[in-house]
Amino acid sequence: MKQPVRIAITGAAGNISYSLAFRIASGDMLGKDQPVILQLLEITPALEALNGVVMELNDCAFPLVQDIVATDDANVAFKDADYALLVGARPRGPGMERKDLLEANAAIFSVQGKALNDNASRDVKVLVVGNPANTNALIASCNAPDLNPGQFTAMTRLDHNRALTQLAQKTGKHVTDVEGMIIWGNHSATQYPDIAHCKVAGTPAAELVERDWYETTFIPDVQQRGAAIIKARGASSAASAASSAIDHMRDWALGSSGVVSMAISADGSYGIEPGIIYSYPVVCRNGAYEIVQGLALDDFSKQKMKATEDELRQERAAVEHLLG
Ligand code: NAD
Ligand code: LMR
Repeated sequence: MKQPVRIAITGAAGNISYSLAFRIASGDMLGKDQPVILQLLEITPALEALNGVVMELNDCAFPLVQDIVATDDANVAFKDADYALLVGARPRGPGMERKDLLEANAAIFSVQGKALNDNASRDVKVLVVGNPANTNALIASCNAPDLNPGQFTAMTRLDHNRALTQLAQKTGKHVTDVEGMIIWGNHSATQYPDIAHCKVAGTPAAELVERDWYETTFIPDVQQRGAAIIKARGASSAASAASSAIDHMRDWALGSSGVVSMAISADGSYGIEPGIIYSYPVVCRNGAYEIVQGLALDDFSKQKMKATEDELRQERAAVEHLLG
């Protein structure tokens, strides 16, 4: 039997976590042979609701769950954490952009960055889901000077998965036929879902769909999918967000089967400003991710990649005071 790993989840009484915690506990993230200790963080007023979640987790009698910690103290939740999924944050409502949450949520991530720095495993893998996810990850990373910025990532896997399905449905194929999908940049309406390097069942995607559909339907639909879910459900995506968080962490820990999109600390690749948390095409193996290099970019792509980079620079400027 493997040694248990410690998995911290913040916002653990919220909507996303109501799916996420149970799927992690059942082994969907790290495998059916990996015991887990769940370390669940909530704000004090939500501790009673969190207690209800813990009761339900216990009632599932999951074979892999070794222990469950429920707390309102980030230092306790992140103690020796091997994985940290930072979900706890306010979601947007109808008519808001994700960056409208910057002020409400930014302070959470400076406090949690410090708590990760002081308590987590030195190899902790951090995924920020709470919006605006990229800039929140930057804030957390800047407040954790003893950890490597490469340990802080933000979620664009949901956008990636949305794009896979849109393209598969358009071409009459299955999501497993699509390879080489890329989400560049911010998890926001400026993100650039790029099919230029994508193949569907071995054929270049650009040969299978009209350019007009790509530019005027596919790109805006993927960019606006979060808002469409909010409009339809009256609440932001939850089960699909949890599923994508599991995909992100599973691939990072255990390896990806191809190219996936992760928002990571930019290293200057493709001319992007170093340090901002920018979504790149990556391949994961041996517990690490590597940016796919050498992709040819046309002017359309360069312009879209620059627009989303500019937005991330602006978000960074707006939280400069929290960056330590
Ligand atoms: P929710 O309101 O249902 O749950 C959020 C939970 O976080 C609440 O229970 C709240 O008490 C808790 N919380 C607030 N501040 C906290 C803190 N300082 N420490 C610990 N917990 C705290 O919201 P949700 O639907 O679960 O969404 C959570 C976040 O995820 C939102 O910001 C949402 O916009 C974002 N989101 C991101 C993606 C993505 O693709 N990156 C997808 C979906 C949702
Ligand atoms: C999403 O993409 O579904 C989430 O980021 C929620 C939102 O505000 O769009």
